[in-house]
Amino acid sequence: MTRGPSRGTQSLKQACFCANSPDQDLEHMLYSATINVMVKAARRAGRSLKRDLGEIEHLQVSLKGPANFVSLADKRAEEIVYQDLAKARPGYGFIGEEGGTREGTDKSHTWIVDPLDGTTNFLHGIPQFAISIGLVREGTVIAGVIYNPANDELYIAERGKGAFLNDQRLRVAGRRQLNECVVACGLPHIGRGDHEEFRREMTAIQDRVAGLRRFGAASLDLAFVAAGRLDGYWERDLQSWDIAAGMLMVREAGGTVTDIATPGDPLVTGHVVCGNEYVHGELVKILRR
Ligand code: IPD
Ligand code: CA
Ligand code: CA
Repeated sequence: MTRGPSRGTQSLKQACFCANSPDQDLEHMLYSATINVMVKAARRAGRSLKRDLGEIEHLQVSLKGPANFVSLADKRAEEIVYQDLAKARPGYGFIGEEGGTREGTDKSHTWIVDPLDGTTNFLHGIPQFAISIGLVREGTVIAGVIYNPANDELYIAERGKGAFLNDQRLRVAGRRQLNECVVACGLPHIGRGDHEEFRREMTAIQDRVAGLRRFGAASLDLAFVAAGRLDGYWERDLQSWDIAAGMLMVREAGGTVTDIATPGDPLVTGHVVCGNEYVHGELVKILRR
């Protein structure tokens, strides 16, 4: 029997990578200024989403496309995130799922934001959704924050400095045999994705793994891989805001993230596969067949 995920236990207090004024609280002292800005925006948007979740039955929703709802809640959340980030870093560009692209004067920095990842879950009162904020510098994601306000789980990653869940350093799970692994995926739904292709992939993978899951929020799927809760994850047809922060989270937790095809950048193609190097390798072999 293989032991559970080999998650690191080092807390942020030991892994401190930034020191600030002694007057600031612990969170402010231990993370970089950029991360603090992102966390503050995510938490503020999170409070708004949580209020809206409580009033979900009164929420007005409009159809963005077949089975793809956009709510007032995510527009409100995006505006909160935008206001906070723009105030702190006025020159940075901003790409948000709801508001599109807002050019900045600083061409080397762009925020990539999904104000509500897991909209379908949210609208059904399922507490698996998140605000996802990534920061890209010169084409590379350098910081990521993913926050689920429903359970107050806050994931943080900064390039070269590790990934954390509520101050605990994250490591991807250590399993190497696919038949011991729990793997998550995305499911194409009505009007979206290649259903036949997915069925082929699902059949091939489901025959090889201990369990297959579909949680419905790509950012949290990636965060769960980083946290060692899931051994692997693959999904096609995503957008950069679904995965920018999560990809960094997995990499900073020691995992491997690539495009499903070779070569390619998931941030551009939207096709992503990840796990520890062994699980990633096995999944890739199956998916590229
Ligand atoms: C969706 C979620 C879901 C994934 C979809 C995404 P949204 O984002 O991440 O897990 O399967 O492809 O579009 O629409 O809830 O922000
Ligand atoms: Ca999304
Ligand atoms: Ca969204």
